[in-house]
Amino acid sequence: MRTKLDHLVNAALVSGSAVPAFTCYDFTTALAVVGAAEEARLGVILLVAPKTACTPNGLRLIAALRGLADDASVPVSVQLDHASDLQVIVASVAAGADAVLADGSSLSYADNIALVRQVRAALDAQGASDVVIEAELGGLAGDEDKAFGTDDSTHDAGMPVAGLTNPAQVADFVERTGAQLLAVAVGNVHGKYKGEPNIRWDVLQEISARTEVPLVLHGASGIPAEELAKAPSLRVGKVNFNTELRTGILSTLQTETAAHRADGENLQGLLARWNHSAGAFAGTTLELLSA
Ligand code: 13P
Repeated sequence: MRTKLDHLVNAALVSGSAVPAFTCYDFTTALAVVGAAEEARLGVILLVAPKTACTPNGLRLIAALRGLADDASVPVSVQLDHASDLQVIVASVAAGADAVLADGSSLSYADNIALVRQVRAALDAQGASDVVIEAELGGLAGDEDKAFGTDDSTHDAGMPVAGLTNPAQVADFVERTGAQLLAVAVGNVHGKYKGEPNIRWDVLQEISARTEVPLVLHGASGIPAEELAKAPSLRVGKVNFNTELRTGILSTLQTETAAHRADGENLQGLLARWNHSAGAFAGTTLELLSA
């Protein structure tokens, strides 16, 4: 059943859990994620990357994910991730996204607030006032769609992060943007960490003391399970994964493709392995974050 993102996340927090969100570039992965959530009887969030959503096929994927969410036996929300282009946001919502990360984190503080307010106004004008808005304060290093560069020296994933969320700005930011969820930068990065992740739980604690809205941890791939498990206690109600899901799928394809080619070009069988890999990761993560 399709469920509003804030309801899903708030309900999880009340029971001491967080909801994982998984980037889905394709329908096979989304089927695996929703299947795992149904098996675990837990809610889940399907994320669509902006580079996917800005294409006609990406909008069709959103429509398909909405159908999948409607049909699921557990609460599912479909969110456009990291969006700053109003046209892409409006088109994605028209296609079926019921939540948006209005991402002004690369902008100045004032411009970040202005962007989130613009997104709210555009959605209201579109008759989509019920669409939930997440905003982001502080900057994350790394690329949302690539875990590292072919030339590693040009890729900043895992570098020390300059833009930690400033706890002193949190209450004002949430009030002025009307954000219903807040993504934070506390040492988390998109893509692969260089060395051990250094998540600033002290900063997260300070942030959580300054606002009532649920917090969101991006860049969760690579953060040790025992650390992630404590996220809900700091009111992190949503945890985003992409890289680790891709790593698992790609390594499954790498090991399984030759045998499935030899077995009569068995694409159906290969897709089943893909589904199994993504489903296993989603299932483990769902259990990890649930109380
Ligand atoms: P990772 O790729 O590091 O898991 O980050 C995913 C993410 O934050 C999507 O918004």
